[in-house]
Amino acid sequence: MKGVVFTEFLEMVEQKFGMEMVNALIENNDLSTDGVYSAVGTYHHSEMVSLVVDLGKRSGVTIPDLLKAFGGYLFQTFKTGYPEMFANATDGFGFLQSVDQEIHVEVLKLYPDAELPSFRTELLEENVLQMDYRSDRAMGALAHGLIEACGEHYNEGYEIDFQPQTEDGKHVRFVIRRQA
Ligand code: HEM
Repeated sequence: MKGVVFTEFLEMVEQKFGMEMVNALIENNDLSTDGVYSAVGTYHHSEMVSLVVDLGKRSGVTIPDLLKAFGGYLFQTFKTGYPEMFANATDGFGFLQSVDQEIHVEVLKLYPDAELPSFRTELLEENVLQMDYRSDRAMGALAHGLIEACGEHYNEGYEIDFQPQTEDGKHVRFVIRRQA
């Protein structure tokens, strides 16, 4: 997993829970770098899992809720850090439909070793988009937060139905309804 995900995660923890929480997480988890991540470096996904699980224990917030909040945070970071990725889409559904074949393709050019999920989208009705998430990292809740933030960004007021398709979390279907 790319270092940018770790640096953004620790920044969110600092903002929402304070520096003491960041220090506790770094001290109490066996991290390859003692918590110093380079944005372009690559670290094992299990390290992110340890951090999120420990933050869940310490904060009392559930892991899906933490990942979802992180998705919202990450969307804001992407907006400021990669404005060019938002240039082509004129609405939220267009943006979501471009993640798999355009946005994440660009991400792979920037970070050839990025581990990305796959998305398959189908417009069921003018205002209903079905989006299937598949990934060995089982971070559907992160995708949920990103999709929700996308709806806010484009002012489309999403109602998102999260439908797990497998027990291991590796395949999740989102049915997204936008206000007409
Ligand atoms: C709403 C739109 C988006 C969704 C739903 C989405 C979803 C995700 C998810 C769920 C992951 C975690 C990895 C996994 O589950 O396998 C991920 C990774 C990532 N995404 Fe996206 N993404 C979106 C937009 C973007 C944008 C705009 C960027 C801009 C640069 C981006 C860059 C990345 C990067 C850098 C990673 C980390 C890859 C790694 O750690 O190796 N994504 N994305």
